[in-house]
Formats: sequence, structure tokens, C-alpha cells
Amino acid sequence: MRDEQPTVDHGVHQRRQAQSKKTEEILEILSSLAHEICSQEHQLPRRIDPTEGLSRDRIGVSISDEGHELDQVVEALRHLVLTTPSSAGDNFLNQLFGGRDPVATLAEMLTPILNSSMYTFKVAGPQVLVELEVLNRMAKKAGYQDGEGTFVPGGSIANLVAMIIARNQADPGARDKGISCKQLTAYTSDQSHYSIKKNAGLIGIGRDSVRTVSTDTRGHMDLEDLLRLIRCDREAGRQPFFINATAGTTVLGAFDPIQEIAAVAQSENLWMHIDGALGAPVLLSERHRHLIEGSELADSITWNAHKMMGVPLSCSAILLKRRGLLSTHFNESATYLFQANDDEFNPGTRSIQCGRRNDAMKLWVAWLFHGDAGYQERINRLFDLADYAAGKIADDPDLTLTIHPESINVCFEVRGQSSAMICETLDSQSRLKIGFGDACGSSAIRLVCVNPDLGEEDIDRVIAEIKTVAATL
Ligand SMILES: Cc1ncc(COP(=O)(O)O)c(C=O)c1O
Repeated sequence: MRDEQPTVDHGVHQRRQAQSKKTEEILEILSSLAHEICSQEHQLPRRIDPTEGLSRDRIGVSISDEGHELDQVVEALRHLVLTTPSSAGDNFLNQLFGGRDPVATLAEMLTPILNSSMYTFKVAGPQVLVELEVLNRMAKKAGYQDGEGTFVPGGSIANLVAMIIARNQADPGARDKGISCKQLTAYTSDQSHYSIKKNAGLIGIGRDSVRTVSTDTRGHMDLEDLLRLIRCDREAGRQPFFINATAGTTVLGAFDPIQEIAAVAQSENLWMHIDGALGAPVLLSERHRHLIEGSELADSITWNAHKMMGVPLSCSAILLKRRGLLSTHFNESATYLFQANDDEFNPGTRSIQCGRRNDAMKLWVAWLFHGDAGYQERINRLFDLADYAAGKIADDPDLTLTIHPESINVCFEVRGQSSAMICETLDSQSRLKIGFGDACGSSAIRLVCVNPDLGEEDIDRVIAEIKTVAATL
């Protein structure tokens, strides 16, 4: 409860009343638009041609010198949101996120109302404690007894933070004086996310300093190839410094062998990172936790809660095994900002960002509501759905299952048909949003079972729809 306010003069009172009326009006509009979106999202909107731009004809108004009346703006907004595909609908299967967790959404909708910035306790108050609690819980689940973490805008940036710290540890002058070792070399599998290579370009070691380790037929990093590449690089005078193991690859959903890679990292004295953007939440499932067994051996882990855990975008953390590293590598003195409280309660001293939105509250509220048990049930359900889909596909003579899925991505082809063409036709006809990717040497449709609100009948419907469209090509 807020303390009672001192009495205020009439003018101030009137201004506050007007402000609060405006907020009420906006909240009513929010509620009405949210209702409309939810009632229509199960049908994909007609696909528009992006080259037409945001034409005045379509939206009704355009940005101008003078501005517009609120009702005109609301109408334009209404038109915009109702012609935007919603990732919560039954026909959205295109990404590694989908569906809607209403409780997490509630907290997310309150986030901009408070509009906290998470750099200091003075500004964000108890939200900082919420963030610490959530990060602490994630770190403990990963097996880090004295770990730490920070929220970042997405898994790519989480991987970037890990790579910066690993680079600085390998080349201790890098943070202050710039890179002295031009030969730092990183290792990641040919199935890993593109952010590893992109980040190598960003941290000054160069994209060509990333070695692509081959994978077996199930998409797991090949350890012999990893060792061979490290050996070759050492012989050539390079300095291996970083191995990325992927827990849940982007296309196949495969899990690299964590314990074996950790053993290589230890014997070669390399930083080991786990990119668990997709798969880290299996830590919450007794049935599937074995996939990431040995997570506590890694130096850092990327964990997205906006994929398997269904929290609204973005909700990504980077977790570090050793407390203190984030501050060592990211703290700067800013006397205008970090003025009060112990730095433990000023998360800006451990962040790659300055101003930072609050991504923790929505996860905290969702975790309060679901508990570990709810998440375990959710994750098991996603795996069961994927298993069901794989069974249906394997039994269908018109379809070829790429491999039996290790987690929630089911890759398959329609015999004799182009996956790209099928996905494009489904999208252009506003039937389904579903993607394709290179899987085990060919281009496969990727059915991501990340929305636990979908049932087996939805999987049947999606497969039938894909076959119907394929038959027309
Ligand atoms: C394995 C993996 N790592 C990292 C990312 C990047 O995560 P984000 O989209 O949150 O930046 C993805 C995205 O799909 C991913 O699949």
C-alpha cells in the first residue's frame, strides 16, 4: 500500500483527475482491443503485400505534422492489430514460441504501466528482488550453487554476453585495451544457432574464427570432430577458448552431449557455454532433464523462458556458474546512476544494457502460479504432442519423418514435394504459418509443438492441411 499523500491544491487535484480519466479511457480501449484480438486470432488474417507499405487506404491515417484525434488513432490501431498474425492462434506454428499464458500476459501488460528500468533498486524497488529470486531459481535448477545471471533481450544476446566474458577470461586485457590475441577460436556445431557466428563478428575475433563442428545423423555434435578441430587449431598456433553446446537445436531440437563436451572443455581449458535458448527448461521435467545432464559443468547457460515456458517475448536470461563475473566484465562507474544501495541490488552493474525493461515480473508471476509442477506438466505435454505428431507422420505413406524428434520439433517432408513451396502456399493462402529448415541434408517442414493448448486433433488437422495443399502443387 502506498503512504497517504499530503493534501494538494485544487489545480493539482484537477490535473491528476484528468490524467487518471485518460488512463481509465486507455485501459478500456486496451481491454476491448485485447478481447477482439483473442476472439479472432484462431483465423489467420489475410496476408498483405509488404511492398504496398502501410498505406493510408489500409490503415486510415498516416503520421503527419498535426497528429490525429484519439478515436481515429484507435481505429487505425484496431485495424493494424486485427490484420497482424497472432502467435497465440491455432494456425501459428512458425516459431519456437506460440500460444499464450494468460497469467504471464497479465504481468506483462502491467510492466509498461509501471515502466520500471531495472538498473537500480531506487528506480525499480521490489522488482529487483523479484528478478534476483527468479534468476537465483533458474541458476539453482541449472545446478549452479553460487551462480548469478541477468535478463537480456533474447537468446542471441545471452550468447553474446557469454562470449564476451569467455573472450575476456582468455585474453585478460581485452576489456580495457582491446584484443591482443587475434587467434581466439570458438567451436559450435553445424546445427547451432547463427548467433554464435554473428557474435564472433561482434566481439572482435571475427566470424572466420568459429569452427563448425559436424554432427551425427541425429544432430548431435560429433566429439571426434570437435577434438580434431581443436588439435588442428593448436598446431596452427591458434588459441581455442570457447565451446558452445546447444541444448535444443533450432531446427531438429537436438541436444548436444553435455557431459562429454564438458570433459573436452575441462581437459582443453576452454570456456563451456550451453545455448539452452530452446531446451534449458527441460531442467524442470524429471522425465526429460537427462537431456541436459551435466549442465552444472558448463560455465554459462542461455535460458529463454519465452519458448518452451510460454512467457511473452522477450524473456531470456544468461546464467553464470561463478558469481561476480558479470560485474567484473560489465560494471562501469556512473555516479549519476548508481547512487544508493549495495550493488547487489543495482542490477545495472551486471548488465550489458543501461536502461532495461522488466522481463522478470512476468516469469515470476507465471512461476508463482504454475510452480515447478505446472512447468513439468507443460514440458511433458509438449514432448508428448511431438511424439504423437511423429507417430502420425511415420505411419503416413505420403510423408517422411526426418528423424524421431528428441524434443519438440518434428521435421518431415511430403514425399516428392518441396517443403519451401508447401510452406509458402500455406502462408499465402492464410491457412497455416509453418516454417522449413535444413535437417539432415534436406529441406524439411518443421512442426514445432510449443503450444500446449493445441490438442492431438490440431496436430491431425495441421498434417491434413499440409497434405491437402501439397496435393495441389
Ligand atoms: C538454439 C537457439 N539459440 C538462440 C536463439 C536466439 O534466441 P532469441 O530469438 O531469443 O534471440 C534461438 C532462436 O530461435 C535458438 O533456437
